[in-house]
Amino acid sequence: MSYQALARKYRPQSFHDIVGQETTVRTLQNSIEQHRIHHAYLFSGVRGVGKTTVARILAKALNCVKGPAAEPCNECSVCREITEGIDLDVREIDAATYTGVDNVRELRDVTQFQPARDRYRIFIIDEAHMLSAASWNALLKLIEEPPPHVVFMFATTEMQKVPATILSRVQKNLLRKITLDELMERVRKIAQSEGVEIDRGAVEIVARRGEGSVRDALSLLDQVIAFSGHAITAADVATVLGLSDTNFFARLADLIAEGDHGGILEALQEAAESGRDFKMLFRDLLGFVRSLLLVAGGAPESMLAASPEDLATVRAAAGKFSYSELLRVANLLLRDDETVNKAEHQRLAVEIALLKAATFPRLREVEAVLSGGGVAELRSSAVAKSPTPKPRNPATSQPAIATFIDRVTKARPLIGGYLAGAKSHHRDGDRIVFTFDDRFSADSVSEAKGGLEQIAAEVFGAPVTIEVGTSEEAPRGEAKQSPLRDDPILQAFKKHLGGEIVEPRRSK
Ligand SMILES: Nc1ncnc2c1ncn2[C@@H]1O[C@H](COP(=O)(O)OP(=O)(O)O)[C@@H](O)[C@H]1O
Ligand SMILES: [Mg+2]
Ligand SMILES: [Zn+2]
Repeated sequence: MSYQALARKYRPQSFHDIVGQETTVRTLQNSIEQHRIHHAYLFSGVRGVGKTTVARILAKALNCVKGPAAEPCNECSVCREITEGIDLDVREIDAATYTGVDNVRELRDVTQFQPARDRYRIFIIDEAHMLSAASWNALLKLIEEPPPHVVFMFATTEMQKVPATILSRVQKNLLRKITLDELMERVRKIAQSEGVEIDRGAVEIVARRGEGSVRDALSLLDQVIAFSGHAITAADVATVLGLSDTNFFARLADLIAEGDHGGILEALQEAAESGRDFKMLFRDLLGFVRSLLLVAGGAPESMLAASPEDLATVRAAAGKFSYSELLRVANLLLRDDETVNKAEHQRLAVEIALLKAATFPRLREVEAVLSGGGVAELRSSAVAKSPTPKPRNPATSQPAIATFIDRVTKARPLIGGYLAGAKSHHRDGDRIVFTFDDRFSADSVSEAKGGLEQIAAEVFGAPVTIEVGTSEEAPRGEAKQSPLRDDPILQAFKKHLGGEIVEPRRSK
């Protein structure tokens, strides 16, 4: 008996079997019920979200002997032949291998004939963005004056590559990614139909790996079943994926919190020895840090979709950081995501990213010294070569910017995250200037300025203006030379810790 891939075996044959895509399904069904059949439809979305599936069901709904109906009967010969892919009047064309204008001419000729049997002659054109400009032009004429019995259905993962002249003449349907919950439900259901016992953790990993695509989740389920048979645990899935487990990430998080560079390199060495893919490892680490943020931010447990043991591990790891520390670590790691993805030496890129993240707790303390205690304090700790200079923030001195960021984070976690991830910040009299690497963070913070100034006024006990800029176009005042930036001890710190020198608050 040949094995049929789960994705194929469980391809929905009716609209009501489609997961997600409610808007698309409702729109299509309404238009059929109201006898408003379009002559050109476009389905766009990432791979494996149902574009081809929806197009085929629509073809059946339009051509079904009992139709046009909101659902195909799936019993008549038309429905059955479309399902099998042998209906003469429903043609699927893969644009990736069908780009010549000659083929389109041929297509145009074909459309002049009446359908062989069905109500409509339907062309499902997959990977439509691959069509040449000449092909689009030929198609455009057909779409502008469609023969009454012809329906085009375009499917594409890259709608932005479809010419605007076409886009304005088709009924557009944006198929969304499938949510984690929906994917988990689908995986669970299919496993059940297959008589496979699968634990919750395993379902979650499989669904998460699908990244919004049902097809990807199901192909992974295929692999896992091939590997472990009819009883599947999270550990099985982890093995198949070469995936690192929660404990491994909790250990990494601990090491980051402790600033243990040696420990981090050792853990990564083990990962390399067990043949782990560093890109995946980094991506999973980001996922883990996100869980830490959710836990620390008080998100409901249901959002985490973790097993009880994992949840305890995640909680313990989250407890090693303050909330703003977590935001900052997450921010640092996130910035390196692209670097890791593109890196030729992925292991090195991951090592550097984690070492940088691990440097951060100490960097924070330097900041606290700078903004709370002044330079003398820093000098003495630097001279004493203390690996972790003690933060000093006496009650008599003014609150540090860090306190302000903490307060913002409590009220507006997202904005707090941006502030914590700022490239630099300094207070200059009644102004606080934040500089960001990217425009997006800068704009987001700018938009929240009113609220931020209110919080700042409470924290500092006096009116404060918040100014925001990006590193390319430094805000007013930033250009002012600061002797501190050239201070050799600070330079040494910067070199060793890899951080940024921030402006101290001048103590009176
Ligand atoms: N929305 C969905 N609901 C249920 N199953 C889906 C859905 N999208 C995709 N699938 C599954 O993935 C397989 C591939 O789907 P397909 O429609 O070809 O994806 P696309 O054309 O978007 O790449 C289907 O056979 C089905 O098993
Ligand atoms: Mg497809
Ligand atoms: Zn039918």
